[in-house]
Amino acid sequence: MNEPIDAHRTQYVIDVRKLNKHFGDKHVVNDVSLQVARGEIFGFLGPNGSGKTTSIRLMCGLLTPDSGSGTCLGYDIVRESEEIKRNVGYMTQRFSYWEDLTIRQNLDFVARIYQMANRREVVDRSLEALGLQSRANQLTGSLSGGWKQRLALAACMLHEPKLLLLDEPTAGVDPTARRDFWEELHRLAANGISVLVSTHYMDEAERCHKLAYIAYGKLLAQGTANEVIASQGLATWSIHGERLSALSGRLRKTPGVDQTVVFGSALHVSGSDHAALERAVYDATKDSALRAEQIDTGLEDVFIYLMSRSTDNFKVSS
Ligand SMILES: Nc1ncnc2c1ncn2[C@@H]1O[C@H](COP(=O)(O)OP(=O)(O)OP(=O)(O)O)[C@@H](O)[C@H]1O
Ligand SMILES: [Mg+2]
Repeated sequence: MNEPIDAHRTQYVIDVRKLNKHFGDKHVVNDVSLQVARGEIFGFLGPNGSGKTTSIRLMCGLLTPDSGSGTCLGYDIVRESEEIKRNVGYMTQRFSYWEDLTIRQNLDFVARIYQMANRREVVDRSLEALGLQSRANQLTGSLSGGWKQRLALAACMLHEPKLLLLDEPTAGVDPTARRDFWEELHRLAANGISVLVSTHYMDEAERCHKLAYIAYGKLLAQGTANEVIASQGLATWSIHGERLSALSGRLRKTPGVDQTVVFGSALHVSGSDHAALERAVYDATKDSALRAEQIDTGLEDVFIYLMSRSTDNFKVSS
């Protein structure tokens, strides 16, 4: 991929407006608009079946939207899908390389698909860049999850894309391998490569420059972690003490309390009516040994809130 991208067509590497997609009578992507700037790591979150993979496939020209428009790397997602496919690096949700080939053979195979002339050199460079040399001749099927993900990243970057679309790249990978993977993503972003990455992991969401949360095909929040948190206007209290599970059940029925979630040894209690929430927490803890303190609402509190509200909305509308 050495073709220069027309930087004047859009300041965003992804800029899509009001995308819609149905599968049968299911409205899987519902008016999704999303912008990703150059060099940004953009996290895509949402429950299973919420439309993340489908949205990614729409953005990179693998699926045609029923309506809506937009560009990816400056190319039109409907009319110029071939250019997009040639220029983005797409890591699919399921590992999709040959288990009975070695790492080197798999990368060589990908280089052939891209019809690269200097395959040996390209593969050597890629093995070195992602620290894969020591395993180059190991059969892919015998690699651990972390090494497989590393191979998948190397493969989708072989043609030096400026944009990576990574669909749950670290699912099932241990924390150390995930941390290494994210350090690699930040190195790439520092070199001007943009990344759209879907994930279910909260620590990964916190490492993104921007985030979008999707549920039942609808984008419910978008922005930096702080903007996403602020958008829901929740206050949160943390309660420590005994019998938090019973307390949680009681508080949930109390006016002012929109949500209770146990986090380790603490109970997080959140609500959008801050005064009513404070009263509820005060009443529930005043005559007891329970300790309550107001804390900053976290990303996880907000995601749980968004998910439960969208479930309710879905029930109402269906
Ligand atoms: N090719 C298809 N034909 C019919 N339905 C589909 C197709 N692809 C996806 N769907 C449905 O569209 C909805 C959204 O699926 P999608 O894979 O985009 O969700 P997701 O957010 O990526 O989920 P996950 O977190 O499980 O990967 C689901 O209900 C799924 O069953
Ligand atoms: Mg998916």
